[in-house]
Order: sequence, then structure tokens, then C-alpha cells
Amino acid sequence: MANILLFYGFVLTLEILVILLVVWIAWSAAVGAPWVPTPRKNVRRMLELAEVRSDDVVFDLGSGDGRIIIMAAEEFGAKCVGLEVDPFRALWSWVKIRRRHLQHSVRVIRENFFRADVGSATVVTIYQGHEVNKKIRDKLSRDLRPGTRVVSYRFLLQGWTPVKTDEESSLFLYEV
Ligand SMILES: C[S@@+](CC[C@H](N)C(=O)[O-])C[C@H]1O[C@@H](n2cnc3c(N)ncnc32)[C@H](O)[C@@H]1O
Repeated sequence: MANILLFYGFVLTLEILVILLVVWIAWSAAVGAPWVPTPRKNVRRMLELAEVRSDDVVFDLGSGDGRIIIMAAEEFGAKCVGLEVDPFRALWSWVKIRRRHLQHSVRVIRENFFRADVGSATVVTIYQGHEVNKKIRDKLSRDLRPGTRVVSYRFLLQGWTPVKTDEESSLFLYEV
């Protein structure tokens, strides 16, 4: 009897997890927030291309699991802010930041980056699609200070001319 109860308990838990996963994936697609992480070697290249230093403030717009802000702090010594609309990804990156004791230099905020104040950035990293990039470009033109570096992975910021391109890694560096 106990074994049967245990079995049904296990099946029920599994069903709930699958339903939550489906809801999460559907929600991500509906709000236009799919998660496709940048491979780590491209993250490093992204930060090298922008010549990130310890006096930089790096904002990642749509920070996913926090890999860009974590590497920028750990390997380049920068102060970092991640803006992520998905609560689970934001929570997961918060856990990663705490586990690495980076909470004094890295912050992740669960927020829509279109509504966020990004004016204190000296470097902005982006991995979004064409349509989102069009809107981001207008926001960045308004908010960022002259000289701020913006690196986009895979997608161009139409209408801006890159100051550097790494075709092999699909990276485009712009300067405001
Ligand atoms: C392609 S992933 C990139 C994640 C991370 N930057 C990386 O390169 O590994 C895009 C991320 O942007 C987030 N996102 C999309 N639109 C957003 C918005 N308006 N505000 C905040 N985050 C957003 C998604 O939830 C997703 O995690």
C-alpha cells in the first residue's frame, strides 16, 4: 500500500513539474522572452571586444542565467547589472551570484529592460532578435552617455555602424 501511494505521489509530482515547464515555455514565447544562452567562449570574446575593464559598469539586457555579468565581474573585474524579465532565470542567476560571492559587484534585477534606467552603463551587452533590437536601439540612443560601448551578439543594430565586427563569433561592437 505504501509503495502504491509513493508511486502515485511520484507520478503526480512529475505531472505537476511537466505542466509548470510547459506553462513556463509558453509564457516565455508569449512575452517574447525565449532563452538561448550565449556560448561561454563567445561571452568572453564579447567582453574582450568591448575591452571591459575594472572601472566599467556592464549592463546585460535580458541577462538569462547571468553568465555574461558573472564572467564580466569574475574575469574582468567590472561592476555588473543584469536585467531579466523571467523570474526563474532571474532567481537562478541570483543563486549563482551568491554562490560565487559576487553580490557586491553583480546585481540581477527582475525587470523589463525597456522600463529600466540604463544610463549608468559604460558597456551594454545584448542578445535579442531583430525586432527587439530595433526598439532597444532607440532606447539606447536616448539613455546612454556618449562613449558607451554596446556589443550585440548575432543581430545587428540596424542604422548604427559597428566600430568593430568579429564575424567568426557573430559580434558587433558599437560606440554611442
Ligand atoms: C537570447 S537570451 C540571452 C540571455 C543572455 N544575455 C545570454 O546571452 O546568455 C534573451 C534573454 O532576454 C530576456 N528578455 C527578453 N525580453 C526582455 C525584456 N523586455 N526585459 C528583460 N529581459 C528580457 C529573456 O527572458 C531571455 O532570458
